[in-house]
Amino acid sequence: MTATDPLPGRLRDAVYALRTARLGLERRRLDYGRETEERAERLAGVLPASVAELREYEREYEALEWFHETYADRVAEIHDAGVATNTTHWRDGVTLYVVCRALEVETAVETGVLFGSFDAHVLAAMEANGGGTLHSVDLPGGPPGPFEYGHLIPDRCRERWELHRGDARAVLPDLLESVGPVDLFLHDSDHRLPHMRFEYETALSHLEPGGVLASHDVRLSRLFDRFTEENGLQSCVVCDTGIGRQSR
Ligand SMILES: C[S@@+](CC[C@H](N)C(=O)[O-])C[C@H]1O[C@@H](n2cnc3c(N)ncnc32)[C@H](O)[C@@H]1O
Repeated sequence: MTATDPLPGRLRDAVYALRTARLGLERRRLDYGRETEERAERLAGVLPASVAELREYEREYEALEWFHETYADRVAEIHDAGVATNTTHWRDGVTLYVVCRALEVETAVETGVLFGSFDAHVLAAMEANGGGTLHSVDLPGGPPGPFEYGHLIPDRCRERWELHRGDARAVLPDLLESVGPVDLFLHDSDHRLPHMRFEYETALSHLEPGGVLASHDVRLSRLFDRFTEENGLQSCVVCDTGIGRQSR
């Protein structure tokens, strides 16, 4: 054990397994209909946009036929291949779509691609914004089955997407240094607390003033709430995604 690593590996894995099991129970109790209905109100407390404007972005998303057709086809391909999708639910993708539209996000960095549900939503918003680049980090290798990382990303968005292969611990510091400051950082890789904290801390110093630190699976622990509070970010949680915004 060291000062920066207070729990030995096996114990940390056991704690993570417990948290994941608890999260599974909490998700069953969570009223996702209500979470979704309140998305615009909650985001309006964090973003420089009114509830009406944010609802308009939600409607715009609903009407993106080119996006939904490709997305549904590719989800079906993954299901047909019989591999576990374990990909982020589209209701969290919508939250990121709305954030990227409201802030006109130009430069975004994300960790944890897998089939690319979040990536697809961020890139669709960039398409609507008329510009932007998403840099995504995932481990060497790829998702299960005969697929590449980011299978859900529609072809027309792909030129805005750059995939960086490697452990986020190794890749993130230099990547953020070279492409930052960023309008959006999104964590969805390794959800063990030391790793989440590392990503949040690394990203925070590379955020544009007014930029967003977003994270999936924030209900696993109090880390996101504590981190945003300690660092003076306004924040909210919608479904399973936390959105924290640095003041300007
Ligand atoms: C829950 S999935 C991501 C889901 C994805 N964001 C989506 O929208 O569908 C987690 C991903 O994080 C990746 N991952 C895990 N640990 C990582 C690390 N240390 N660095 C980079 N990626 C990592 C895994 O390979 C996996 O693809």
